[in-house]
This record gives sequence, structure tokens and C-alpha cells, in this order.
Amino acid sequence: MSVFVAGVMGWPVSHSLSPRLHGFWLRAYGISGRYDALAVQPENLTASLRALPQQGMRGVNLTVPHKEAAMKIVDSLDDTARRIGAINLVTVTDEGKLHGSNTDAYGFGENLTAGGFSGGHSALLLGAGGASRAIIVALIDKGFGDIRIANRTIERAQKLAQEFTTPQCRITAVTWDEIPAAMRETDLLVNATSLGMRGQPPLEIALDTLPVSATVTDIVYAPLETALLQQARQRGHRAIDGLGMLLHQARPAFAAFFGRDPEVTPELRAYLLADRQET
Ligand code: ATR
Repeated sequence: MSVFVAGVMGWPVSHSLSPRLHGFWLRAYGISGRYDALAVQPENLTASLRALPQQGMRGVNLTVPHKEAAMKIVDSLDDTARRIGAINLVTVTDEGKLHGSNTDAYGFGENLTAGGFSGGHSALLLGAGGASRAIIVALIDKGFGDIRIANRTIERAQKLAQEFTTPQCRITAVTWDEIPAAMRETDLLVNATSLGMRGQPPLEIALDTLPVSATVTDIVYAPLETALLQQARQRGHRAIDGLGMLLHQARPAFAAFFGRDPEVTPELRAYLLADRQET
């Protein structure tokens, strides 16, 4: 029986949780596959991706700094990847071609659903970086009609608003000072900045004007319980942590590599969290 092989390409790649995550699923389902950490320098990305079919690999995930550059290398792209402007998954087709896709928007949406969030109209998004692009696509596809983006550098928020506004979804940029007012009619508050991450400045934001019915989610997952989520829970909001986005974005990749849609379970979460504290 052939052993399916996949991996994650990054530079550096040692920080990636993906090998442990996919390794957990391979063991859990008794699949004889392998998922490797592949340290690939930017100048070697084209050759490394092009070599995948000859190496008999099923595909790879991509992490920093390859997600945008790889778009120009693959033979085909799915529509979501095109909208987001980045790919995090490359699969080798039966014809030996490279197909690029992006599962970050899917992961964000699935994490919300798994956390009990059933949908809404208005979202307030903090941050206008790469992560925000996938989140905007997820929110539009979930049927949000109004997204406000707050960012330290307002021009980046304005650029995203311009790029992603559709007839069904109005997207506007708001300044950091306008956050309290923008919160008033918000169903979902998302932190997509790096603020609050271990080693980064804290996210200092008051939730006083946020309706108690609103859900709060953070893409930061180290620490798992960010100050934002803590504050939200204390005020009675549904709070959804960011680890789930990482776990759910990996599901379609695992399915593509190894032929089974894996489950996100409390055991998986505990395994990854325990591991992280050791290292
Ligand atoms: P990612 O791909 O993870 O989104 P990024 O593109 O570097 O990473 O974006 C980081 C986000 O965190 C941006 O919205 C950034 O705001 P700027 O566009 O103004 O840089 C935000 N961010 C990072 N550090 C910040 C800080 N100290 N204060 C406010 N916002 C910050």
C-alpha cells in the first residue's frame, strides 16, 4: 500500500503547528501517511512546488512567507483563493498539475459555526492585514450585509473596503476612535490584528457599547484566552477562541491529502495546547 505524503512549506517552519495537527489525525484514523515540516526559502519555492508531483507528494500547506508568491507558481486557482489573494493549500492533481486554494475563510466560518454562532448582519473587524482578507470573504459568504473595518493605518482598511464591497455587503473603514460607536449595532466583533498575542502589545478596547447579544472572536490563539475574550465572557457575550480557525482550516487539507474529513475534538485541542506549553 502506498503511503500518502504531504507537508507544510514555510521559512521558518519550525513554529508551525500543522505537523503535530495532521500527525494527530493520521494516528487517530490509523492512516499510513506522513506530514512533514518543509523549510523552504523564498528563492526555492518555485522549484520545491514544481518537484511535488515527481516526489509523489499529495500536496502541501503553505505558511509565511509563501502564501502570496505561490499564487503565481501554481497551474490553477480556486475562486476563493483569487478573492483572498493568497493560497494556503497546494494539491497535486491526477494529471500532475498544481492546484492552489485557500481554506482560511472556510476555517474561520466553521470555527464560528462550531462555537454556536448562527449568523448576523453587522460585523466589526479589527485589522486590515492578510488575515482580514480571508475573514472578509468568509463574512460576505456567510451573508453579512455590513462590515466595518477598523485599523491603525486607516488607508489599509479603506483599500479593503473598496476592494471587497459588493451590492449585498457594504464595507466601510472606521478609525480606531470610532470603534465605540461602530460597536453599537454589531452582531460579531473580530480581532484580526496581532494585538494581544504573546509578545505583542495588548489590545486595549472597551466593550461597553457592544450589545450583549454580540459574539466576540479573536484570531489570536497564544494565549488561547486573550484579554478580549476574557472581557467578552465576563460581560456575557459568546466568545470564540482562535485555535479553532487553525484547526478547521486544516480539515479540507487533510481530506485532500489523506481522503478523510477529520474531526476537531476536545482531545485534539488539548493535545496541541499541552504540546505548546512544553515547547
Ligand atoms: P496578518 O497577515 O496576520 O493579518 P499583517 O498583515 O502584518 O498580519 O497585519 C497585522 C494587523 O495587525 C494589521 O491590521 C496591523 O495594523 P496596521 O495595518 O496599522 O499595521 C495590526 N497591528 C499590528 N500591530 C499593531 C499595533 N501595535 N497597534 C495597532 N494595530 C496593530
